[in-house]
Amino acid sequence: MIRGQKRLNGEIEVHGSKNSALPILAASALVNGVSEIHNCPRLSDVDAAIRILEHLGCKVARDGHTVTVDSTSMHAFDIPDDLMREMRSSVVFLGAILGRTGQARLSTPGGCEIGLRPIDLHISAMEQLGAVLTEGASRLTFTAPQGLTGARITLTFPSVGATENIIIAAATAKGRTVLTNAAREPEISDLADFLNGCGAHIHGAGDSTVTIDGTPHLTGTTHTVIPDRIAASTYLLAAAMTQGRICVREIVPAHLGALLPVLTESGCDITVSGRWICLSAPPRLRRVKMTRTMPYPGFPTDVQAPLSAMLTIADGTSVIVENIFESRYKHAAELLRFGAKISVEGRMEVIEGVPYLTGTQTVAPDLRGGFALILAGLAARGETTVRGVEHIDRGYEAPELILQSLGADVKRIMENGTAEQRNSESAAAPQGSAPTDESHAVAVTPVDESHADAVAAADESHADTSADTPAHDA
Ligand code: EPZ
Repeated sequence: MIRGQKRLNGEIEVHGSKNSALPILAASALVNGVSEIHNCPRLSDVDAAIRILEHLGCKVARDGHTVTVDSTSMHAFDIPDDLMREMRSSVVFLGAILGRTGQARLSTPGGCEIGLRPIDLHISAMEQLGAVLTEGASRLTFTAPQGLTGARITLTFPSVGATENIIIAAATAKGRTVLTNAAREPEISDLADFLNGCGAHIHGAGDSTVTIDGTPHLTGTTHTVIPDRIAASTYLLAAAMTQGRICVREIVPAHLGALLPVLTESGCDITVSGRWICLSAPPRLRRVKMTRTMPYPGFPTDVQAPLSAMLTIADGTSVIVENIFESRYKHAAELLRFGAKISVEGRMEVIEGVPYLTGTQTVAPDLRGGFALILAGLAARGETTVRGVEHIDRGYEAPELILQSLGADVKRIMENGTAEQRNSESAAAPQGSAPTDESHAVAVTPVDESHADAVAAADESHADTSADTPAHDA
């Protein structure tokens, strides 16, 4: 529940990247050893990945943001149907299971809220590495009795998941794999760093051509997951929409490269220094003429819905083209309920800025679209409730605590309306259990003005020292 129009001021750190932790957890099953993964975010999607690892026979322990995976006793080779349905990115376990056991069985992942999500590129890549596919009714079984053999693979689209599956499967294949038209997302580089720490020989991750020289056995390693660039982007947009001032620290500014010019065009002042990005929002945002989502380093599709929310109150008409997924505008219909003026034509979304939004009752359609509705509520006049917060818990750790620390009037309430005190430790789901849809309650903890002033002053001093680093250096 949100009471809008509070300026968001202060300094935050974001959790480790969901889209890096998931493939790294999958890859830990390929390794016959113990992997210690730090800065692993406490998210329901990570809980699901841990459940898959335990199903496969791995021993998993979690201590705060550290997950330790001992995969020496891994014995299974199937991804459970219910987990495949719950999290379609479970397909990223395919390469690890196939590489480790020489076989893999999974149900064909259904589509989800943002599109059909086919896995044809994953399937053809595994076949090129020597796996034989037998298709049953909605079930795929791969066998590679002689193990996998390196190959030259070209992706027709730089699919993130397919790139990850290929890198993982090729890491212990016989011989060399050369992958062209690979995805270049930072999460690919992080995955390669993890596997190279385990003894793999992967070169060129983060570029379009990746070379993997298979090594028969990998050992465990210790790895720290990169910060979540999508969460960082989302909170910067929250400050932009509320005339706020925010610094996001401990991030890699280069990972947000394509967002910064968009924020600058909308009238925000951006300063970048080292591992900080600070944003100071204008009293009234300006429209952003055209934004096209593209594979990295282009504008990320995962920030499209949060950007749509921001543009509903930007002066003028903005256009967004969604080039990655075929139906990722479910949030548009919900934003209309706030009084936004949006029309969607196929992959194009046209947003005419309105003077203000009005709080309303709304339901999260998916992960990023759900946060777009929270952003609208933060900017809107009056009260907003967003139901379906379990979607948001998949990809954002303790969002209400971060927003409260910035001065937002937001609380998480149980479906039955009761509220109870929670603290940051209990913010995320306990070991191995995804938050139920009866989200725990958080009483409103009004921000102590002196704290907010102190943080703002800190920003002031910090922003000044970094003032000489203009945004375009990001
Ligand atoms: C990853 O999904 C991310 N998920 C997504 O983030 C992100 O939106 C996406 O990459 C693009 O950046 C994780 O990393 C867990 P793709 P993925 O394969 O791997 C089509 C979030 O909100 N395609 O790059 O599934 C596909 O349908 C999530 O955190 C095929 O046609 O994305 C889509 O249109 C959402 N055949 C496009 O490619 C295939 O075999 C991009 O998909 C595979 C993909």
